[in-house]
Amino acid sequence: MTADLSRAALETGEVLVVERLGGGLLELVARLPHLAANAMPGTFAQLRCGTSTTPLLRRPFSVAWTHDDTCGFVFEAVGAGTRLLAALQPGDPLDTLGPLGNGFSVVDSGSVVCVSGGLGCAPFPLLINALRRRGVEDILVLNGARTATRLYPAERFARPAVPVVAEATDDGTRGHHGPVTELLQQALSSRPTAIYACGPNAMLGAVMGTLLESGADLPPTLEASLEAPMGCGFGTCLGCALPVLGEDRVTVWKLCCTDGPVMPMRDVDWDGLRALPGADVA
Ligand SMILES: Cc1cc2nc3c(=O)[nH]c(=O)nc-3n(C[C@H](O)[C@H](O)[C@H](O)COP(=O)(O)OP(=O)(O)OC[C@H]3O[C@@H](n4cnc5c(N)ncnc54)[C@H](O)[C@@H]3O)c2cc1C
Ligand code: FES
Repeated sequence: MTADLSRAALETGEVLVVERLGGGLLELVARLPHLAANAMPGTFAQLRCGTSTTPLLRRPFSVAWTHDDTCGFVFEAVGAGTRLLAALQPGDPLDTLGPLGNGFSVVDSGSVVCVSGGLGCAPFPLLINALRRRGVEDILVLNGARTATRLYPAERFARPAVPVVAEATDDGTRGHHGPVTELLQQALSSRPTAIYACGPNAMLGAVMGTLLESGADLPPTLEASLEAPMGCGFGTCLGCALPVLGEDRVTVWKLCCTDGPVMPMRDVDWDGLRALPGADVA
């Protein structure tokens, strides 16, 4: 599905809070009426980081949740842009462009599994809220992270009713000791009708590998929100191309920002994606 950019707009909001969740995770809440009214699950916004020309490019962030005229973003200070976002204070302006990207296909029945790796938690609160509005209650979140402090808190995946969240940590400090894909193996016995995944591309490739190795029928809705280095965010710089399988399963290139970031997992060229260099953003 290609992004509908007709609702994308520049909007300067007001920062309400930057909350430290632990383990370096931050939740930024800002008053952004246009974005809050128009963001769909899985869409993102390009956030201006700071007021100077460094960094020059906006940075993409999933809209984690919306409430009335506010939006939440979940992130970690990993570089120049996110360090500037982390330093924002209540009352500061936040310059945004969005909503961008296509978003998840929100099913309206059946059982759903959301697989989150690290900061891949970000799009799920908005998605879970939308699923519930459509009457889907059978939702299982599999939440994996390196260590306990880096797990997005279960109660933030949906308010007020917390969904069922199973946790996994690489170091065994909370929940299942091992990768989140091991929880997925167990969850497949309930034959989910939709699986949504978000996390580092390598983790998404492992999710697909787990599904294929299990021999189970792939669910009709099987989608992942992918990452790529982004310049513009709306299809002009061609900086975010990702390998996907086109007709006859031949690799073609699609843009993460407008053909994604959500893509059917069956269509991604996972070997090609693994071979790509990491993001290097100006
Ligand atoms: C559609 C989309 C949605 C995203 N949503 C979120 C989110 O909700 N929360 C969140 O924390 N992060 C999210 N990201 C990643 C986020 O945009 C990057 O972490 C951010 O741009 C880093 O900016 P920086 O200036 O702090 O770091 P930089 O100094 O630019 O880079 C720091 C490190 O992050 C890596 N990096 C930079 N950009 C990306 C990228 N686009 N993808 C993967 N690695 C990157 C660099 O290779 C480097 O190792 C998303 C990315 C995309 C494409
Ligand atoms: S970020 Fe510019 S084309 Fe995708």
